[in-house]
Amino acid sequence: MNLFDKYYQDTPDYFGSYPPIHFKEAYKRYVPFAGKALDLGCGQGRFSKFLADKGFEVTSVDLSAIGIQQLDSFARTAKKAIVAIHDNVLNFPILAGRYELIVAATILDHLSVRDARTLAGKIYGGLAPYGVAYIECHTEGDAGCRAGRGEKCLAVSECRSQIRHFFCKGQLLRWFEKGRTLSYEEAEFMDDAHGPVHSHEFARLWTQKV
Ligand SMILES: C[S@@+](CC[C@H](N)C(=O)[O-])C[C@H]1O[C@@H](n2cnc3c(N)ncnc32)[C@H](O)[C@@H]1O
Repeated sequence: MNLFDKYYQDTPDYFGSYPPIHFKEAYKRYVPFAGKALDLGCGQGRFSKFLADKGFEVTSVDLSAIGIQQLDSFARTAKKAIVAIHDNVLNFPILAGRYELIVAATILDHLSVRDARTLAGKIYGGLAPYGVAYIECHTEGDAGCRAGRGEKCLAVSECRSQIRHFFCKGQLLRWFEKGRTLSYEEAEFMDDAHGPVHSHEFARLWTQKV
């Protein structure tokens, strides 16, 4: 059982029941359509559930067997259009041009930089024309990264050990430079949604296939 299996088994909605408010606001601006969505590293499925409610047919992929079981059972009981797949995102075939929306919320940073770069290319390739992707990942300003460099940081996420690559300034944006950038930010925030209150710095990108 991996760390996320344990967290998900002990706590329903470990990262919260809904996507964060900044996602929902940006969604209103950038996603005036439905269709097929892919949620990579979906965890217990807070993004997938939101997207299914908005009319998307969602495919959700995660390495946590527990998270996927929970999401699958939710989808069957609530009759939601979510197909929950237990797989490594690196093995899951992302068909070119298939998805109107792809969400990759803190998954690229859970991979080696090489694998993350490859997956980023597949994400962009998987978008339908004018399709939109939301990508979020930890940056070098994150408390977990700074603590790893020996800086004193009181508030480090309990999931820090799972992050393999902290993105440097502008790196995520450069990886998706082929797309039309709808918005990009690198921002620090306090996170009280899971574990002891801690701080994060994330890069958050909304990009569109052109
Ligand atoms: C921080 S959680 C984020 C979950 C979800 N995206 C959310 O925001 O609620 C990261 C997730 O990535 C999953 N994960 C990590 N490496 C993975 C891989 N190689 N393939 C599939 N899932 C992976 C973990 O199991 C975990 O559920």
